[in-house]
Amino acid sequence: MSARRAVCPGSFDPVTNGHLDIVGRASRLYDEVVVAVLINSTKDGLYDVSERMDLLRETTADLPNVTIDSFDGLLVDYCKRHDLPVVVKGLRAVSDFDYELQMAQMNHGLAGVETMFLSTNPLYSFLSSSLVKQVARYGGDISTLVPPVVAKSLAARFRDG
Ligand code: PNS
Repeated sequence: MSARRAVCPGSFDPVTNGHLDIVGRASRLYDEVVVAVLINSTKDGLYDVSERMDLLRETTADLPNVTIDSFDGLLVDYCKRHDLPVVVKGLRAVSDFDYELQMAQMNHGLAGVETMFLSTNPLYSFLSSSLVKQVARYGGDISTLVPPVVAKSLAARFRDG
């Protein structure tokens, strides 16, 4: 039987505890999980893609069946090239649902790629990378929202400008 493989795609600018909750749970459901960072040439992030991938590598080092990659273009093309039939996404709230459903239907219509939604741990239902960045920028406490390596990196980034 071939390995069950899935992809967790996203911007991960930077990775949060919410992302890691979903990646960890996906790693227990699938034989192999690829975390794929979107290379978005139209949107400047706080971290460049290689920095995002380094933070992901560090924070998923305890998950042997998880690898980190990046992609540009359509997610379904990446899925086809890498033999990844399933996308795993977290749903935080009803507000995520409309757009996530549209993307899932588009990806299925374009290439038959399936999307599995995991309900976000309620501890993280309010959490997003952009809110974390806002709070960190003004010195708020993000220690329960991101792993220590990310908290340290954000503090350094905002301290050094
Ligand atoms: O972390 P994000 O920004 O919510 O992730 C969104 C992501 C990367 C999953 C989505 O923007 C995506 O798949 N982009 C790749 C381009 C693509 O395939 N677009 C059509 C989606 S239907």
